[in-house]
Amino acid sequence: MITFPNELSISSIMISTALGHSGRGFFPYLLFPNYRRLVSTIKQEKISVAAKSSTHFPRIGNFVMKDPRIWKYVQRLPNTGMLNAYGLTNDGVEKCAEQIAISQKKGFNVIPNFYPEFDKGEETAIKETLEAIETFYFYFGTEKWIQELNVSCPNSEEVIAKNIQMVSRCVTKIKKSYPNIVIIVKTSIVHPYHFYTMLEDAGADCIHAVNTIPYEMVFNSISPLKHVGGGGVSGGSAFQKTFPYVREIPKYTSLPLIFGCGVVNQYNMEMCFEIGKRFARPVSVSICTLAARTPKQARKLIYRSLEKRG
Ligand SMILES: Cc1cc2nc3c(=O)[nH]c(=O)nc-3n(C[C@H](O)[C@H](O)[C@H](O)COP(=O)(O)O)c2cc1C
Repeated sequence: MITFPNELSISSIMISTALGHSGRGFFPYLLFPNYRRLVSTIKQEKISVAAKSSTHFPRIGNFVMKDPRIWKYVQRLPNTGMLNAYGLTNDGVEKCAEQIAISQKKGFNVIPNFYPEFDKGEETAIKETLEAIETFYFYFGTEKWIQELNVSCPNSEEVIAKNIQMVSRCVTKIKKSYPNIVIIVKTSIVHPYHFYTMLEDAGADCIHAVNTIPYEMVFNSISPLKHVGGGGVSGGSAFQKTFPYVREIPKYTSLPLIFGCGVVNQYNMEMCFEIGKRFARPVSVSICTLAARTPKQARKLIYRSLEKRG
């Protein structure tokens, strides 16, 4: 569990984006009884849920739920893995904020996730991010909430390398206007370690490492989704690559950490908590693919974590 100085907290295990943009589950997954059971457990146990990313304006990525041909952009991989080139399809921050506020009123512990579009240039991206924060503020009716910024995008490694300065300045500007918001920055495996030091200096409160990772980094071959950007690998297929990267992060920052990408069993989860112990650092573990692909296993893992850590 991570508790922040303003008393907001993140549960020891958290669900990352697998409950959709509202954070209370989404179609067609809600048709499956095991997924519905998982959603009820998450609500009942007050498990933190990071919503899927919203952008300032509605955005159509590669994935359109109603078009069955597009489901090929979300593929299964061995060892409870997944490859997705979803591409940030969302209805825009206004609708997402409204839905998240409804989820919060219904008793879900939802953390909004916003994707600043730095490809539009720094000034626009920061302006839009501050407007998005205003929108969340309007719907939440409080100046105190946990906000995740998704600054990772496995489809564009070079862009990520250039963006680290802009991200840091964006964090500083948000914290200046809204000191009571807890900022989690969700990073990518391609980020250099000094980025974590920069984020702490910029005023970030927590790091979530890491988002899905490029296909080529896991399989040493060309992605079957190359024509739509390559896509990101998640779930069990990713753990062997992500763990050696994330376990080094505490050497570069003293911030609390959410570790994820590849956690599919208790063994993976405990390895992540071990990093926290070794560095005397509050740690939470995030899961997404496990919740989407095998919700029954995800539920078991949640209960395991609650048994051991409350
Ligand atoms: C189909 C799919 C869609 C995702 N969408 C988002 C998103 O909108 N925003 C985000 O920050 N991460 C997104 N992610 C990344 C997950 O939240 C998570 O960080 C990643 O899958 C690694 O964790 P895992 O191995 O437990 O799945 C998505 C992952 C998948 C599989």
